[in-house]
Amino acid sequence: MATNAFYEELISSIETSQANAPSDSATFFAGEFSEGQLIEFLKFQAYYERRAAEFIASWLPDTPELDMFVMLAQQIEDEAIHYQLHMKSLSRFGIHSLDDYEIEPEWAEWIDQWYPSGDDTIERVAAHNVTGELGALKSFEEVYDRVPPFVQKTFDRILPDEKFHMGLGRQCIKKYCVTQEQQQRVRQRVSHTLVLQQRARSAFNRRMAAAA
Ligand SMILES: [Fe+2]
Ligand SMILES: [Fe+2]
Repeated sequence: MATNAFYEELISSIETSQANAPSDSATFFAGEFSEGQLIEFLKFQAYYERRAAEFIASWLPDTPELDMFVMLAQQIEDEAIHYQLHMKSLSRFGIHSLDDYEIEPEWAEWIDQWYPSGDDTIERVAAHNVTGELGALKSFEEVYDRVPPFVQKTFDRILPDEKFHMGLGRQCIKKYCVTQEQQQRVRQRVSHTLVLQQRARSAFNRRMAAAA
């Protein structure tokens, strides 16, 4: 399949899957977050951004595509700064480290095992930059009105970077995912990412409900 058409097909399959997600995880609550929910949300974001910086760094020694190497190196710095921004928000609540943060098993499988994995750049980027970051962007948009202005300011700072990361994914797939065999592997990576993301989101909603 031509690479442009392949990429468009991937994005529409992701959007369809997210639109048909079971209702317990399609969205969460109306109204503003409680303080406990805001802290849960920020801790999760901080954890995820930190781990993103780390697992993308782990891809670099095995990234032969020079343009991808440079853009992923840029992304590592972005994710590290996002981590720092969320930690700055958490410090308003007296939280200065994630050392005692306990993550859900669904998050570990998704963030700590799946995203770092992948046999080559197209597999890694298809899972994280194409599928994962589209989901993250949507959840930011969903919660934007439920968080205080200082967190909205952080979102405003982060969102352009996340669009760059998705653009990196688009460039990578269009340029390097060309054979039928590669496209098949990428389709499988995307569909398994959607399953893990869905489970992780349900776990997140459980955690948010408990913090209400
Ligand atoms: Fe980020
Ligand atoms: Fe990102």
